Amino acid sequence: MKQIEAKNVNAYYGDNHVLKNINMDIMPNSVTAFIGPSGCGKSTFLRMFNRMNDYIEGFRKEGEILIDGIEIYHKNVKVEELRQKVGMVFQTPNPFPKSVYENVVYGLKVQGVKNKKILSEVVERSLTQAALWEEVKDSLNKSALSLSGGQQQRLCIARALAVEPGIILMDEPAASLDPISTAKIEELITGLKKNYTIIIVTHNMQQATRVSDKTAFFYVGELIEYEQTAKLFSKPVNAKTENYISGRFG
Ligand SMILES: Nc1ncnc2c1ncn2[C@@H]1O[C@H](COP(=O)(O)OP(=O)(O)O)[C@@H](O)[C@H]1O
Ligand SMILES: [Mg+2]
Repeated sequence: MKQIEAKNVNAYYGDNHVLKNINMDIMPNSVTAFIGPSGCGKSTFLRMFNRMNDYIEGFRKEGEILIDGIEIYHKNVKVEELRQKVGMVFQTPNPFPKSVYENVVYGLKVQGVKNKKILSEVVERSLTQAALWEEVKDSLNKSALSLSGGQQQRLCIARALAVEPGIILMDEPAASLDPISTAKIEELITGLKKNYTIIIVTHNMQQATRVSDKTAFFYVGELIEYEQTAKLFSKPVNAKTENYISGRFG
């Protein structure tokens, strides 16, 4: 059963037509990579899955996006509930200026969870899943801002996981990180696949190869090729895909 279905999706910023009739199905418990040159619409498409573009002036969309069979732009869908189901991790780590603990429990507290035992369990589980627990378990009250960049990004992943989202969107999550932190993020993505559906935008084709099951190649707002990652990188069907993955542009 498909978890995400994009049907004839078009998107515009004013007159700028940035996504052109995109159709895509994403299966549960998979990792999907979005690749393509800068400005081709990867982030715009990713952000549509939890309606992060709603507040951008001039943004307009056509078509449908179904998650678990529900059209997420339907008027009955509550955006806050959607975002609990579809979490997001950004390019630059953005922890709150609060303690490690408070960062992780933030979403649960917003939901009204007060039980200390439950909160502590979620903190340990989420930080463990985000491969950060061992490094911070003795300093949960330390400011998140005192962590390294790579730790901050894993904390942001833990914060997203704490509300058990099901789907996690990652927009170039390792773009600002050193190679060791990047490797940690890639490793944890692979581990998370058992329980989550992950979509990752990446500029790094090696990264797409390492972490993803399927890869979608975008070019100037069009979805050019969407295939099993191994196949897309070894036997691309479209000349544009071939040019991009062989480094001829982008
Ligand atoms: N907030 C915005 N307002 C207006 N135009 C935008 C905005 N964000 C992105 N765009 C435009 O939409 C197109 C796709 O951008 P984006 O989705 O960010 O691409 P990518 O993530 O592939 O680099 C680009 O032409 C970009 O300039
Ligand atoms: Mg982008």
